[in-house]
Amino acid sequence: MTNNRIALVTGANKGIGFEIARQLAETGAKVLLGARDPGRGQNAASILTVDGLDVSYLSLDTLDENSIHTAAARIEAEYGRLDILVNNVGIWDFRDGIPGGASLDAVRTTMETNFIGTLAVTQALLPLLHKSEAGRIVNLSSTLGSLACNGDPSSPYYSAQNIGYNASKAAVNMLTVELAEELRDSSIVVNSVCPGFVKTDLSGQTGTTLPAQAAKMPVRCALLGSQDAFSGRFVDAAGEIPW
Ligand SMILES: NC(=O)c1ccc[n+]([C@@H]2O[C@H](COP(=O)([O-])OP(=O)(O)OC[C@H]3O[C@@H](n4cnc5c(N)ncnc54)[C@H](OP(=O)(O)O)[C@@H]3O)[C@@H](O)[C@H]2O)c1
Repeated sequence: MTNNRIALVTGANKGIGFEIARQLAETGAKVLLGARDPGRGQNAASILTVDGLDVSYLSLDTLDENSIHTAAARIEAEYGRLDILVNNVGIWDFRDGIPGGASLDAVRTTMETNFIGTLAVTQALLPLLHKSEAGRIVNLSSTLGSLACNGDPSSPYYSAQNIGYNASKAAVNMLTVELAEELRDSSIVVNSVCPGFVKTDLSGQTGTTLPAQAAKMPVRCALLGSQDAFSGRFVDAAGEIPW
């Protein structure tokens, strides 16, 4: 497969998702820029089309099953397949925190968005990914979701306790592992990627990596060729992350 890929990036109107959309489109892919808000989505898509990139806004609220199924039906009607799915949507709720004190409402909302929404989008789009020659699924995860790092007193992540966010990303990682096994005999690969600590609204603009840099590893995993493809792994720019 060369440059005629059809790609969907969820939550792509800003932050890392927007840069993933840009970088995928720069390779010649047709990029569907998923966003829940039409104004923000159309505005983001038009910034990229002005740069000559083949990007279209796709209405997609990953918490709304109707929206997910309408988006899948539109992709099927217009393209008949999907080559790349980047599950980028994610939230951080500042009421999250230590297990003994985190707001349950924050934990529930975070699990719903970061895990259930990701699973729902993946389920709806799997039939279209099976129609691709080489489907690629990239799940935006976080080292904060690593059980190994959370349980290692020598890890910088040991004291970063955010039960909702960390558990949601551990659940995303479980999706990656189980889906990789389910898809073992297919041409679809699926991986979890941590983009680093990134200067976006999610981090309150406190991250140390810029979104354009953070997008590179997810894009690399989205473009894996059949020779270098791997599946069921958890990686960042430096390599393998322990589960
Ligand atoms: N920033 C970091 O340091 C960092 C580190 C590790 C992992 N990550 C992960 O990287 C991914 C992207 O994060 P980011 O930092 O780029 O965050 P961001 O700038 O806050 O962007 C998040 C995007 O998700 C969208 N979104 C949220 N809920 C949605 C829903 N229900 N339906 C559709 N879109 C929805 C937002 O849309 P609206 O504009 O409509 O809200 C926005 O476009 C997330 O999965 C995050 O957990 C980030």
